[in-house]
Amino acid sequence: MTTSEVAAITLKDVRHDGRVRVYIARANEQMQAIGYTEHGHRHAGIVSTIARSILTQLGHAEREAELAAIAGYLHDMGCVVNRVGHVEAGAMMAYSILTDMGMRADEIATVIGAIGNHEEPNGLPISAVSAAVIIADKSDVHFSRVQVSDPVKFDIHDRVNHAVQKSYLRVDEAARAITLELTIDTTHASVTEYFEIFVLRMVLCHRAADFLGCKFHMNINGVNL
Ligand SMILES: [Fe+2]
Ligand SMILES: [Fe+2]
Repeated sequence: MTTSEVAAITLKDVRHDGRVRVYIARANEQMQAIGYTEHGHRHAGIVSTIARSILTQLGHAEREAELAAIAGYLHDMGCVVNRVGHVEAGAMMAYSILTDMGMRADEIATVIGAIGNHEEPNGLPISAVSAAVIIADKSDVHFSRVQVSDPVKFDIHDRVNHAVQKSYLRVDEAARAITLELTIDTTHASVTEYFEIFVLRMVLCHRAADFLGCKFHMNINGVNL
């Protein structure tokens, strides 16, 4: 085992870091305070798992998939500063923490570039890790993310998230296809409403899938779009 392998920082190290625990928990408290959907350890964990899985299923190196898992876990940590600018704030916070943990500079560059490019309209897929984080983040649409308890106070984001009963990201390496499969209860939100807020996100997913040499598809209630 080489020195760099001994020093390789894993998702497990990052998840257990006291600063990461606090900042992500506090980021979500702030999102809840302003009526946003869940952006805490649940969302971090799901995006991390899906980002790793996308790269693993497409045959990327194990270490690259680990970096996607780390970037996925940390991508919304900057919401602890403010929702506006959370992309840049999160990248700089990750830079500081990962440097302190001893991660190699080239790996930190990959992780903070992925965090810094995960959101529309300024984010672009700039690496496989970044592309995986974008798709994983946009796939996490689910009723369990709604933090507003009174349906009367639901905004369009809450209504759409509330309507999604099931979401699954299917990666077909042979067909070079990545498909977001959603089951939407249309009594809560229409498919049109879904597209009203997700059209920019879907454009970014198409670009990210292209970067990975795949096509991005959506299937809503069994219908391919
Ligand atoms: Fe974000
Ligand atoms: Fe996110």
